[in-house]
Amino acid sequence: MRIAPDVLSALTDRAETAGNRLVLAGPRMDARLYQKVDEILEAVGGRWTRSAGAHLFPMDAAEALAPVLASGEVVTLREKLTQAQYFPTPPPVVERLIELADLKPGMTVLEPSAGSGAIATAAAARGVTVDCVERDPGYAAVLKDAGVARQVQVADFLTVPAAPQYDRVVMNPPFTRGTDMAHVEHALRFLNLDGLLVAVMSWAATYHSAKTAPFRALVEARGGKVEAVAHRAFAESGTDVDTVIVAIPARRAAGAAPTVWPVRDLPAQDEPQLGTPAEIVAEIQANLREALAAFDEVAAALASPPAAKAQPAEVAELPAPRDEPTLFDLLDEAS
Ligand SMILES: C[S@@+](CC[C@H](N)C(=O)[O-])C[C@H]1O[C@@H](n2cnc3c(N)ncnc32)[C@H](O)[C@@H]1O
Repeated sequence: MRIAPDVLSALTDRAETAGNRLVLAGPRMDARLYQKVDEILEAVGGRWTRSAGAHLFPMDAAEALAPVLASGEVVTLREKLTQAQYFPTPPPVVERLIELADLKPGMTVLEPSAGSGAIATAAAARGVTVDCVERDPGYAAVLKDAGVARQVQVADFLTVPAAPQYDRVVMNPPFTRGTDMAHVEHALRFLNLDGLLVAVMSWAATYHSAKTAPFRALVEARGGKVEAVAHRAFAESGTDVDTVIVAIPARRAAGAAPTVWPVRDLPAQDEPQLGTPAEIVAEIQANLREALAAFDEVAAALASPPAAKAQPAEVAELPAPRDEPTLFDLLDEAS
């Protein structure tokens, strides 16, 4: 997006940076201008942090902002959301992923679509070693700077050669056109024999269809577990897509329970609204009037004889006049 001139000059003139901090100097901006400035800062990694009284960046703030000031252009978070399928996992969902992954200090973990590291950061905090893959160099840079991962590879994960070497895969891959299934299936190839994969996936992966059948069969064969994520859990990330968390072991455990696929709750029906007693009486009267009028119509129809039907026009062709005498004519002649 091309940055409007007033927004660009506000950034050029008023942004003061020191390390990962950025402060907008001078008098308070009007709300509209501030909102636009904030959108740009957010797009390059800045987050307004009240306790710090500044926008904080996961890297040097001046460095993050420099390309934007030089080009006058930025890819906003909103644009990235639609272009790169970047929907950061909200903290409650990250927490559940980590819980189900049963991480133990010293384990090796792969995050193969790591974004800016919502999951990787939480995993690293459990004392595991995290390796990340991320296709978007911007997010990968943020992730590198965050320093939570042993290695960050900028790549299309689907093209990364598989090698079974991780105790866990924890992921929230892109969803478009079923790519989440492709990412999860590829990621399973990176697990050690006793490994476990835990992924956020689109609810669509749980449907019965020709497209999901191989994936469902794989989950069931391995004794995988599937649980629903709360509706609108990703609203803060900019999407209302319904999701599930799927846990799939590298191999089926002895005595594993059959997979139970979650069923989506139907939205509650609104209770019918009862009116006041006067409104209820008025409605009954109106219904009775309608019913009586219908009875009158039927009675009138029964009382009057049906009108004589008009004779249908004769359409049958008359037989052609005959020249030959009939049998009766011949008998008449003989008598
Ligand atoms: C739904 S976001 C999740 C980000 C992060 N895992 C999180 O939970 O916050 C999906 C991420 O996958 C990245 N991505 C999309 N296609 C990819 C691919 N083929 N290989 C690697 N990363 C990819 C996007 O750039 C985006 O950061």
